[in-house]
Amino acid sequence: MSAPGGRVVAVSGAAIGFGRAIAERFVASGDRVFGCDIRAEALAELGRATAISTQVADLTDRAAGAAWIAAVEQQAGQAVDVLVNNAGGVAGQSFQPIEAVTDAAWDQVVAVNLGAAMALSRAVAPAMKAAGRGAVVNIASGAALRASLTGVQAYCAAKHALVGLTRQLAHELGPFGIRVNAVAPGFVRTNQSTEAQWAAFTPERQRALLEGIALRRFGTPQDIANAVFFLASDEASFISGEILSVNGGH
Ligand SMILES: NC(=O)c1ccc[n+]([C@@H]2O[C@H](COP(=O)([O-])OP(=O)(O)OC[C@H]3O[C@@H](n4cnc5c(N)ncnc54)[C@H](O)[C@@H]3O)[C@@H](O)[C@H]2O)c1
Repeated sequence: MSAPGGRVVAVSGAAIGFGRAIAERFVASGDRVFGCDIRAEALAELGRATAISTQVADLTDRAAGAAWIAAVEQQAGQAVDVLVNNAGGVAGQSFQPIEAVTDAAWDQVVAVNLGAAMALSRAVAPAMKAAGRGAVVNIASGAALRASLTGVQAYCAAKHALVGLTRQLAHELGPFGIRVNAVAPGFVRTNQSTEAQWAAFTPERQRALLEGIALRRFGTPQDIANAVFFLASDEASFISGEILSVNGGH
């Protein structure tokens, strides 16, 4: 692995929330960071405010994901050192009884949380293998390990599957010097979607949620970014196939 300051880092879903905090964390250590997102406006603002190279891409289109990685490799003139598969979420959906879930709704959530991580990992693998090094960090969720607070079935299923992809790719790519890990964040109030979710909880549920956290506070995007930064670093050079919960203790 290259040392901090010299790495080429690709972060999906970099426009807001965790993705932005993760991208900024790597920039702060002098790495060369590339971010993509479907949100053109927020991404343009990120590009203006930071040294992050941005590209608009809808990652439910796997070819668009592959094209983004090809562009990053071309611009950087080398393999991606660190890929962070952060794009995800519930795509504006909220709980529906399973009998009301449409194919389109299911497919969209699976495509962004699982398909995009597969497509981007597939795209970075050849150059990482040739370089003999690399790190992939997938952003899973507490919903990758138990039922989701959102109630969105596709989200819970896709995040569970992302854990499987993490473990499988760790074994496939380990012999080439490439580590694959995941961070499983607890509930963090990052955006409109999590604010709406929070507002929909009764005061009792809100209190129970907080009291269920050992450290008695909600996490921040920086808490998640720090864990990703660690897993991508040489400090974690013998860690692969792991799922690191970052949730204040459950
Ligand atoms: N916030 C939380 O409480 C929480 C908890 C656990 C896991 N997560 C996961 O962390 C990641 C980041 O979550 P967040 O809360 O910061 O924001 P988020 O879930 O709203 O979205 C993540 C980013 O992905 C982008 N994105 C969505 N669909 C896309 C697409 N088709 N193509 C390209 N980009 C797309 C969004 O624009 C956004 O910038 C997600 O994978 C989410 O599932 C969040």
